Amino acid sequence: MTNPWQRVTDVATRLSTVSRESRYDPYALFDWPPSLPDNQYWMSPELMTGYGTAFWDELDEPQRVMLSRYEAVNFFSVNVHLIRELIGGVADRIYTTWHPGLSEFFHDFIAEENVHAWFFATFCQRYGGKVYPIRRIDLGSSSADGIVRDLVVFGRILIAEELCDFFNVAMADDDRLPPICQQINRVHHQDEARHIAFGRQLMRALRDEAIERVGQEKVAETGEHLARYITFCVRSLYNRDMYADAALPDPAGVRNRLLGDPQRTEMHRRAVGRTVAFFNRIGIVDGDRVRL
Ligand SMILES: [Fe+2]
Ligand SMILES: [Fe+2]
Repeated sequence: MTNPWQRVTDVATRLSTVSRESRYDPYALFDWPPSLPDNQYWMSPELMTGYGTAFWDELDEPQRVMLSRYEAVNFFSVNVHLIRELIGGVADRIYTTWHPGLSEFFHDFIAEENVHAWFFATFCQRYGGKVYPIRRIDLGSSSADGIVRDLVVFGRILIAEELCDFFNVAMADDDRLPPICQQINRVHHQDEARHIAFGRQLMRALRDEAIERVGQEKVAETGEHLARYITFCVRSLYNRDMYADAALPDPAGVRNRLLGDPQRTEMHRRAVGRTVAFFNRIGIVDGDRVRL
C-alpha cells in the first residue's frame, strides 16, 4: 500500500503543476464596474440567511434585494477573514519537516489565497464601503502537540474552503447576479477545487500520523474542536451588522430568530453536509456532535 504521505506529496505535485499552468493575472482578469445596480440581487436569494423562513415572507422584494447586497459583502468578508487565518497557518508550516515535499504546493496555495483575499476585499470595499469585521469566539484550545495542532489547522482550512465552495458553485453562473458577482464566485471555485482535493488527502495522512503518535483520544478532542468550528463558520454568515445596514429593525433579534428556525437547520445541512460526512467517515468528527 502506498504511504499516505507519499500519496499527499504526489497529489500536491500534480496540483502545483495545474496551478502554475492555469495562473491568471487578477489585476487584468476582473472588470470592476464603478457601481452595481441596486435593483438586482448580489447574492442568490436561496442562499441568503432568511430564505425559507417566515421572516423572509415579511420582507418585500426591495428589502430582500437591499439585504442581498449586504449579505454578499458579508459572505465575501467572511472569506477574507478565513483566508487570512489559513494563509497564516500554511505559512507557519511551509518548511516544517511534517510535510516533506509539500513546500512547493504551499507556495502556490499561499499565492492563490493572497489573490482570493484581494478580490474578495476589493469587492467589499468598492461596493460595500468596508470589509465586515468577524466576531471571534473562543472555540477552546486544543493540545499543543505539533501533529494535533496540524490536524486542527488543516481541518479548519478544509471546513472553511468547503463551506465557501458550496456558495461559490451555486452563484458561479447565476445570471440574476451582476457579472462581477458571478465571476468572483466562479474564479474562486476553480482554484478551490484543487485546494479541497489536496485538503482531503492531507487530512487522511494527518489522521493516520496523529493516531500513531498521540492516540485516538487526542484525535477525538480535535474532532470536538472542529465540530465547534463548523458551527462557528455557518453562524458567521448571520452577521447582525448586515441586517442593521439593510435598515431592518432589531438586527440582533433577526439573527437569533433565524438561527433558531428549523428551516435554516435544513439549509445548513445542505451547505456543510458533505463536509461533516467526510470528517465523520475518516473518524475525526462525530457527525452527531455538530450543532447546525
Ligand atoms: Fe480561496
Ligand atoms: Fe483555498
